[in-house]
Order: sequence, then C-alpha cells, then structure tokens
Amino acid sequence: MQRHLRVGRDEFGVDPEQTQEAIERYDEGRGLIGGDPNKRPDYIRWRPIPEEQPYFRLIDISAEKRARLEQFLQGGNKRKEGKPEGGDGVERPLEVEIGFGNGEFMLGRSATHPERRFLGFEVKRDLCRSVVKVAQGTGQDNLWISDDDARWALPQLDLAGQVAVIHVLYPDPWWKRRHQVKRVFTLPFLDLVCELLIPDGLLHARSDVEGYAEYIEELVGEHGGFSASDPALAAQFDADPPTRREAYCRSIDRPFWTMAFTRHAREGGHPRLAKA
Ligand SMILES: C[S@@+](CC[C@H](N)C(=O)[O-])C[C@H]1O[C@@H](n2cnc3c(N)ncnc32)[C@H](O)[C@@H]1O
Repeated sequence: MQRHLRVGRDEFGVDPEQTQEAIERYDEGRGLIGGDPNKRPDYIRWRPIPEEQPYFRLIDISAEKRARLEQFLQGGNKRKEGKPEGGDGVERPLEVEIGFGNGEFMLGRSATHPERRFLGFEVKRDLCRSVVKVAQGTGQDNLWISDDDARWALPQLDLAGQVAVIHVLYPDPWWKRRHQVKRVFTLPFLDLVCELLIPDGLLHARSDVEGYAEYIEELVGEHGGFSASDPALAAQFDADPPTRREAYCRSIDRPFWTMAFTRHAREGGHPRLAKA
C-alpha cells in the first residue's frame, strides 16, 4: 500500500515494502541512515570514542564500556543524593531521545531531572562530540549518548518494556521517495517503540511540518498500539528547553504541533509484536 500525505507534494509517500526492505538491509549497513557501521566502507576512518565518555558506538564498544552501559541501562547507576523516584517499580525512569541534534532539550531535561536516566541517539558524530563534552562538564551521571542509528541499536540493548518516554522531536520529513527509508516514523518503528515502552509509557513527538504531524497521528492510529494523542500529556515537557528547531520556530512565530501517545497497557504485549 502506498500512502500519500495531504501536503501538496506528490513525493511525500510511504511505501511499506521499501521500508521493510531497508530494515532487512540493516546488517549490510545500507538502507538506513546509520545501519551497521562495521559494513560501511568509511567506518575505519571515524574518530574513536574515548573510553571514559558516556558515548558509545555499538560496533566498537569495549567489553568494559558495554558493562558500564548495561549497568546504567538496567538502572544500577546509583544516585549520589536523594531518593530514587518511586512508582510502578521504576526507580530511575529511562527516557530515550532519537535525533537529539544539538542536544538542548536532552541536556536541559537531564540536568533538571537527576532522578531520571537519559539515552540519546544522534547519527551526526560532531553533534555527539559536542553534547558529550557539555554533559561531562556538568558532572551529571544520568546521560549516555550514541551515534548509532537508533533503529539499528535500540533492539540490541535489551530494553523491552523498560523505557518510560521516547522523544522524537522535529524529525526530518524526508519528502522525496528515494529518501523515505530515512524517515523515522514507520509502522516497524512504532512496533519498536511499543516494545521498548513500559505499559502506559509515552511517545512524545513534535513537528513544525503540519503534513508530517498529521501523518504521525494517522500512522499511530493505524498501528493501534497507542491511545490517541493527548497534547496535555506533553505539557509536562513545557518547562524543558526547546530544541534548536523549536527555538527557531518560536523566533519566527512558525507553528508547531505537539503529540503525546500513551502505549496501551495490554496483557501479553501488542498484537503486532506477537508476529515478530
Ligand atoms: C531535523 S533534525 C532535528 C534535531 C533536533 N531534534 C531539533 O529539533 O533541533 C533531526 C535529527 O535527527 C537525526 N536522526 C535522524 N534519524 C535518526 C536515527 N534513526 N537515529 C539517530 N538520529 C537520527 C538527524 O541526524 C538530525 O540531526
């Protein structure tokens, strides 16, 4: 089925077969933004990531660093002061941001929420380098980042049912048909989000492209694993710094759309996942 969006651009379509094909080519390092870096011809020239930084690339992470990452992801990273947040057995809720760009939102939110853990993905390595420097400068211990394609790395991190919030803020719409495999929002991506979120976990998305916001709402509705968007739920993030894109929109009075979808808490997982 080819889906077309009401944005006056014929090319803004979604071809699920093309998306599926791209997913099947993850391990060739093709089809997606990142894919498996080991299979990419220029990978060998990428600057290595210092061992001590809370910044990883799954293909060249050392055993020690992977152990530290896993300890962090399993919540074993103890807070220095204060009590852990309670409720539903989640001690230090984990939030994931996909495509954090310059990191304003994630850096601000993680600094003001030391009781929460944050895992950020951004395929642009220069942006990761600058964000990790800022995070290290503040001395906070609740943030790890990766320059892997989130869609490739997240399924390898053993996080099913562990993530409280997934933020995808101002993703590129990728208008053209030949670029559409780079678009984050697809049904297989929503399967992944559903799998990662705790029951009642939140998918928080923003866009300043009206057609893309409509498309996200339609796609999530079609997926069936989430409640309809309740922007009031996203109001809890209003106190956090805007992303760079949002700051730009605000500065020129450009409208943007905020969405917050709650994962359905169903016994036995979502039906789409059962197929996997
Ligand atoms: C339009 S920018 C928005 C950046 C930031 N969220 C903002 O609002 O300013 C989208 C970002 O997502 C990153 N990105 C896109 N797909 C990604 C993926 N699958 N995994 C990790 N990062 C991704 C891109 O590199 C880009 O920096």
